[in-house]
Amino acid sequence: MNVIEVKNLVKTFPSKNGKVKAIDNISLSIKKGEIFGLLGVNGAGKSTLTNILTGLTLPDSGTIKIFGKDFLIHEEEIKTRSNIATAYYDLNRSLTVRENLIVYAKLYGVQNYQKKIQELTEKFMLTSHLRTPIKFLSSGERTRTVLVKSLLNDPELLFLDECTVGLDPDMAEIVRDYLLQYNKETGCTIVFTSHYMQEVERLCQRIAFLYQGKIIKIGNAQSLLKELNLQRVSLHFSNNIEEAKKLLHRENIPFDENNGILVFWVKNREKILYPLLEKFVKYKIVFDDIHLNKPTLEEYFIKKSRENKR
Ligand SMILES: Nc1ncnc2c1ncn2[C@@H]1O[C@H](COP(=O)(O)OP(=O)(O)O)[C@@H](O)[C@H]1O
Ligand SMILES: [Mg+2]
Repeated sequence: MNVIEVKNLVKTFPSKNGKVKAIDNISLSIKKGEIFGLLGVNGAGKSTLTNILTGLTLPDSGTIKIFGKDFLIHEEEIKTRSNIATAYYDLNRSLTVRENLIVYAKLYGVQNYQKKIQELTEKFMLTSHLRTPIKFLSSGERTRTVLVKSLLNDPELLFLDECTVGLDPDMAEIVRDYLLQYNKETGCTIVFTSHYMQEVERLCQRIAFLYQGKIIKIGNAQSLLKELNLQRVSLHFSNNIEEAKKLLHRENIPFDENNGILVFWVKNREKILYPLLEKFVKYKIVFDDIHLNKPTLEEYFIKKSRENKR
């Protein structure tokens, strides 16, 4: 069963130079029990999509079904069965951790909320801060309080938007372990947003890469992240660049050229790059320098979106 079904979602915001399409015709289905990653650079549209699916932002057009129900008609019911944690969540800064959690527990109609708050604050190591006002917490403690808030109603669907921001690595690990366990035990569907690849790799079964409001790639997390195992090759020429370009054309390797540097991508050094370099030698096409590096996520997205336009 699909817990989330989104069709042709569009959201534009006014901006300095007219309009920005934060969500540009996204269609997407997420199955029950999946941990689904939304990956993309800043501004890709991850938070906007999350906010639309939690009713914080109204889309311009498109349809949303959650738990098989039309979001617009059943918004209240859907909201009691789901929850969201985001690094940017506004807790009441003057109220204590405990007071904030009680407010939300009552809002969600949580039965036996004292026990629930006790359990969750223990898990997230917040018991010593229960009486601390939010404004005196460190950013990591605040992040954990928001996580506890998001689990109060035993959500069947949980949105986590950059929810490990501000956590030290050990704490981030504890949070990820807890989420994996919660998913396994309850079958909760999790939509996990991050620009941090390792985290997504560790948690998510499927991922969608967002770029400029579009899904440019979607699929099994492991196979997609393997694609990122690319190397970027830069060859520097003072002569021979035309011959080099001809050779790359013949080898069907797309490249970019700027200021005497040819840049292209290879997946496999042994099978592709080394034989190619041998051809350069064979045809006496001399380059001055070669650089190999791993692409950043941002570079990968830009490359992908260009390929999509071709
Ligand atoms: N409330 C808003 N008003 C105007 N523009 C916005 C607003 N929220 C998001 N945007 C714009 O929409 C785009 C997507 O933003 P966002 O969803 O926050 O991306 P991400 O979470 O992937 O970093 C960006 O260009 C951003 O500037
Ligand atoms: Mg965001």
